[in-house]
Amino acid sequence: MIELRDVWFSYTKDKNVLKGINLKINNNVTIIMGPNGAGKTTLLKIISCLYKPDKGEVLIDGLNFWKANSKDKLSLRRKLVYVHENPVLFKGTVVSNVMYPLLIRGYSRENAKKEALELLNRMGIDHIAFRQRDELSAGEAQLVAFARAIISGAKYIILDEPISSLDLEHRKRLEFNLKDLVREGRKIIIATHDRLFAFKLKARVIEIDQGQLSREFSSEELITELDNIIFS
Ligand SMILES: Nc1ncnc2c1ncn2[C@@H]1O[C@H](COP(=O)(O)OP(=O)(O)OP(=O)(O)O)[C@@H](O)[C@H]1O
Ligand SMILES: [Mg+2]
Repeated sequence: MIELRDVWFSYTKDKNVLKGINLKINNNVTIIMGPNGAGKTTLLKIISCLYKPDKGEVLIDGLNFWKANSKDKLSLRRKLVYVHENPVLFKGTVVSNVMYPLLIRGYSRENAKKEALELLNRMGIDHIAFRQRDELSAGEAQLVAFARAIISGAKYIILDEPISSLDLEHRKRLEFNLKDLVREGRKIIIATHDRLFAFKLKARVIEIDQGQLSREFSSEELITELDNIIFS
């Protein structure tokens, strides 16, 4: 479980971006929604322990991350992976990007490459395995970053607007992949504006507005609301 206790965060002195967030995340899929500038990306980076709160605590599986010793911090970091909306890939091919998390975990090059190619194949993007990072479209780069996140074995997969550049076919593939991860017991946390995507993943939906949690509902409630909008 990830728990946030009274978390405050600001980028500049004059404006709090997160204002006393209390949140427990233990669902298979949790979706964060809210208007542009509401604080979704900031919240995901706090959850991923990339930003330190000005005030408050972040507990990962019961351990207070920012008070943990460096050994515990390292093992907690390995449980968390954050995928940026416009991910930065390392210089080199797609497969070298995807095998990287395995190399730092001690895999041989041969095994790492084999596993990376298998994953790209399962994701239906093996045709780009040997392309250079500069030869990828925005959607392809997002999928490669997603592959790199999955292969890391992290328990918590945190995705910022993962479908913004994906066509329908690749969205479907991503949904299948996310469902597989849930079956493996991994927890997914996603910021998205896409209500249908949230519904299909049977997610718990949390809304944030101006740095505060404003509402929470199930994906079924979300679709009823969507119906009302479409048919009103
Ligand atoms: N690096 C930064 N420096 C200063 N202010 C920032 C920075 N990043 C974000 N902000 C501000 O913090 C607030 C929350 O931004 P955040 O990126 O978390 O919103 P968001 O909900 O992810 O929005 P979007 O839907 O557009 O992605 C906004 O007012 C934004 O202008
Ligand atoms: Mg954002």
